[in-house]
Amino acid sequence: MKFILGIETSCDDTAVSLVSDKGFVLDSRRWTMDKDHIPFGGIIPERASRNHLDLLTPMIDKLLEDHKIETKNDLIGISVTNRPGLLGSLIVGVVTAKTLSIAWNIPFIGVNHLEGHILSPFLTDKKGEEEDILYPQICLIVSGGHTHLLHIKEFGSYKVLGKTKDDAAGEALDKFSNLVGLGFPGGPKVDASAKLGDKKAFDFPRPMLRDNNYDFSFSGLKAAGVRKVESLKKKEAPFFSDGLVNDLCASYLEAAVDVLSLKTKRALNEFKPKCFTVVGGVSANSQLRKRMSEISEETGIKLIIPELKFCTDNAAMIAFAGAHRINLGEKSDLSLAPKARSLAGDFI
Ligand code: KG4
Ligand code: ZN
Repeated sequence: MKFILGIETSCDDTAVSLVSDKGFVLDSRRWTMDKDHIPFGGIIPERASRNHLDLLTPMIDKLLEDHKIETKNDLIGISVTNRPGLLGSLIVGVVTAKTLSIAWNIPFIGVNHLEGHILSPFLTDKKGEEEDILYPQICLIVSGGHTHLLHIKEFGSYKVLGKTKDDAAGEALDKFSNLVGLGFPGGPKVDASAKLGDKKAFDFPRPMLRDNNYDFSFSGLKAAGVRKVESLKKKEAPFFSDGLVNDLCASYLEAAVDVLSLKTKRALNEFKPKCFTVVGGVSANSQLRKRMSEISEETGIKLIIPELKFCTDNAAMIAFAGAHRINLGEKSDLSLAPKARSLAGDFI
């Protein structure tokens, strides 16, 4: 079996992976920098790029050594995230991929990080359990930087039905987590706290829920969160009880889940796709996963959701996206540049 080497350094995690072109993940490794950024309550770009520089090459060496990979015989090529992301972080991955491609004399390809997320539901680390990729599909991308609802007719054709007008869903959760004192990284902490709380305890707004389009807005929800926490601090004490934090998280998350799920359901009813997917870091959220599977039952449309380890940033999804493109005859050349944003043609 041949593999593609995936490299992901678009944000703060350094990740490498070996994946077959059918989506079988031989190995996927990630070094997460959360601890390094905790004292700052968020990611420090300069620290992230320095960490990538220290970690990436040793991680690739060890991965290939552990699986006794002979680069010339066992690798189809190298796939690297070159957009969108933090420029200083992307540069490390892109330069490494170019150098290895020359040294090993195999092709490399720069891919869009979001295309990786889009393919992540079809990854498996169980050989023989690779899923067929069904088209057309509706895909909800919910991550720290993006909230996009897509209609995908075939591989590479990403029609944006709607997206957030301001903040991404993940960012709204991360900010709220800091606000109620749970800290960084916010999404998983809000998720755990919400499981213990009452979703009806507080009434948060559901922005753009009734608008007849597929766009989202989370800045209003974020502002309502700030107002609620400030007014509670005046009434209660500066430090909240665990019970109060749990109720706040459950209610806040419910507002976000309501908007995300209702708009997705509307798209399912309009486009009647063969399947729908929910991808990106926030797709790890238990409340959102539960709601989406209820929608799948109601509509009879198959939900394909990534395994938890493939929801947040990883290099397996990047390898898989690159494998698709290399199989279509595409490859990058040395002019490939890292880009902070997606290219105009990536989405239609
Ligand atoms: O896709 P991702 O790893 O990185 C980006 O490309 O942005 O997504 C990170 C986002 C963060 O906002 C994080 O708080 C959120 O995903 N996240 C979660 C959960 N796990 C990660 N949000 C809600 N519940 C979770 N369990
Ligand atoms: Zn991501």
